[in-house]
Amino acid sequence: MVKLMRIIVEEDYQSMSKKAALLVAGQVLLKADTVLGLATGSTPLGMYKELVRMYQEGEVDFSAVKTFNLDEYYLLPPDDLQSYHYFMQENFFKHINIRAENIHLPDGMAADIEEECMQYEKAIEASGGIDLQVLGIGENGHIGFNEPAESLNVYTGLVNLTEETIKVNSRFFSSMEEVPQKALTVGMGTILKARRIILLASGEKKAKAIRDTVCGQVTTQVPSSFLQLHPDVTLILDQAAASLIVD
Ligand code: F6R
Repeated sequence: MVKLMRIIVEEDYQSMSKKAALLVAGQVLLKADTVLGLATGSTPLGMYKELVRMYQEGEVDFSAVKTFNLDEYYLLPPDDLQSYHYFMQENFFKHINIRAENIHLPDGMAADIEEECMQYEKAIEASGGIDLQVLGIGENGHIGFNEPAESLNVYTGLVNLTEETIKVNSRFFSSMEEVPQKALTVGMGTILKARRIILLASGEKKAKAIRDTVCGQVTTQVPSSFLQLHPDVTLILDQAAASLIVD
């Protein structure tokens, strides 16, 4: 089978994270005012850690970089410990020399959510578009919070999270009731407009989603399968996540 995506398989999580950081840093070296699309979650933590190290050792400079995050929980304030605003500050932004005005995340507390989503799209467009989009992947093949469904959103919008995703996310909350059921997410069209995409996956829990992403049909039931339609996608996997890919 011909695979259109570039696939890098690394020994383990740590080397996967280093490879991803190298690709991000390389992009910033080539274009100082790079526009990065960023993801949260457990998977990119090692990549952020490595990028912080590279910054501290003078290997990369984020002073002209702009960032747009993929998603944020609906009605979770930015200072909530589980918000993606907080996650990004703690794990990346506060350790590097990015300018506050160059950081963008959707505002899950906005009074007018529709307007917020429209403005987010406009801001991405006004920045010149995403040069490099970093993605994680859900066990069900979601990217951003574009969940498997009959149809997918093109633009940034408010979405219902699936039961499965709510359950997976509950590991960070003290009770099921606290886990947000909705999120703002960049849409599939916006993701696919990025010039380059890297998707990180680690662990055997992601193996099936990765197999379906790479070898399956393009279907709204596996949103990540739409990446097959993009001309410049690189998957960075550890061996466990790559274990079900068939030649
Ligand atoms: C988060 C995001 C999600 C995660 C996915 C995997 O910003 O867009 O699609 O990438 O849920 O999460 P982890 O890495 O925690 O397994």
